[in-house]
Amino acid sequence: MNFHVLTLFPEMILQGGQTSILGRAIKNGYITLNAVDIRDYTESKHKKVDDYPYGGGAGMLMQAQPVYDAYQAVSKKLESGKARVIYLTPQGRTFEQKMAEELSKEKDIVFLCGHYEGIDERVLEEIVTDYVSVGDYVLTGGELPAMVMIDAISRLVPGVLNNDTSADFETFHNDLLEYPQYSRPEEWKGKSVPQVLLSGNHTKIAEWRLEQSIRRTKERRPDLYDKYKKKQQVIEKLLKKDKFLYIDMIESLRRGRGELIYNKEGGVVVKDGDAGIYMLAAFDSVTAEEIADTILYENETGQFLVHQECLLKSMEKRFRIEEAFPIKHAVYTQRVPLSVSKEITFTPLGIDYLEEVMEHYHIVPDEAYIKERLLSGNIIGAFIEDRLAGFVGIHKEGSLGILEVYEAYRRKGVAASLEAYMINRQLSCGYIPYGDVLTSNEASLHLQEKLGLCISKEILFWVELNGYLC
Ligand code: ADE
Repeated sequence: MNFHVLTLFPEMILQGGQTSILGRAIKNGYITLNAVDIRDYTESKHKKVDDYPYGGGAGMLMQAQPVYDAYQAVSKKLESGKARVIYLTPQGRTFEQKMAEELSKEKDIVFLCGHYEGIDERVLEEIVTDYVSVGDYVLTGGELPAMVMIDAISRLVPGVLNNDTSADFETFHNDLLEYPQYSRPEEWKGKSVPQVLLSGNHTKIAEWRLEQSIRRTKERRPDLYDKYKKKQQVIEKLLKKDKFLYIDMIESLRRGRGELIYNKEGGVVVKDGDAGIYMLAAFDSVTAEEIADTILYENETGQFLVHQECLLKSMEKRFRIEEAFPIKHAVYTQRVPLSVSKEITFTPLGIDYLEEVMEHYHIVPDEAYIKERLLSGNIIGAFIEDRLAGFVGIHKEGSLGILEVYEAYRRKGVAASLEAYMINRQLSCGYIPYGDVLTSNEASLHLQEKLGLCISKEILFWVELNGYLC
């Protein structure tokens, strides 16, 4: 990810990029930070970049020419050829986590920092794609807001956070405020650390943290709490209908990643924010037609999890469907961790393993996808006597998968241990572990049953849409 900042104060940007996680991410090559001095591009002999506003009024305006030329210089160097250009202004859309998530998928982003009383409107019209504010207050310039955005976006770029703090393994709090945290000593000024945190029982700890998060959100951010409540109601509804069939939607909402796109008596549509995947459920054929007609017409390409055949039929009438794989969900409903072989050492695989993982895993033959999964610490290797025997992963929308055991280690319980390890890891985050199994994959269905996972009775479909039918 490359950040380019057009500014009159490049030192503010460069200083901010030297410290802590941001500094390390730059050093390790995960992000670049390029501060461009707008003054270097002025045609004025006296290096002037501002002038009085036509029509009068207080203060000075930044002129169009130096801003435009600075932008042109940057735009020629863009790795991707084009980029979003974000103008920081209190008049913009308010910056939020969702926007950070969306922007973290870009290759290049250009930030334009204003000063004085603003920038000549004509150059803004010419180059700006997004107007963004960091809050309802007025600062002296756009540099601090740009750094706020760069910080929030960078931590979502795969590889920037180390594996322990991987965004996918954060305990769910996207819809809720963070729970209280405690460190040593156990007692300070007569106040003790809550007993549950010393218990070592990860399930109980996760429950306690969720309870604290809910209480805190209700007290401090009733607006967020209302949104959370609405999602909880949908979760209840889906749980009552069929908790195994809808586990993907339930977990996406529970983990705070899912957005409710459609919620009526006859159906529910959830968009998993992290994966950009739509999960569709229609409880009757009229709703199936309505979803295909409305929601999908705005999202005619990409991946979809379709929970009913009638919905798939409604989609087939309107869209080009690349592939539709019938799958079943396998769900681990118990709270108890599974036992794992002591002979195996589990370690997240780094990017050095890209070639090896690609060589052995063929279900999703997409190098960019596997690269992202490795960088974000979501593929775990099983080592036996220092040799890699296989691996397991978490897919982008949160399901268990990417499971492979090397030929020499098969039929020795390695697959069961790999999956058990991942299940335990998910349990410790308070998740309900689940995976998608192709209905034709007998071996995997057998493994799921052996590990005690419940298989959904109903079939659902992984669907790839590729635009409208003419
Ligand atoms: N420039 C000045 N104030 C700002 C704010 N609140 N957000 C973004 N840019 C700004």
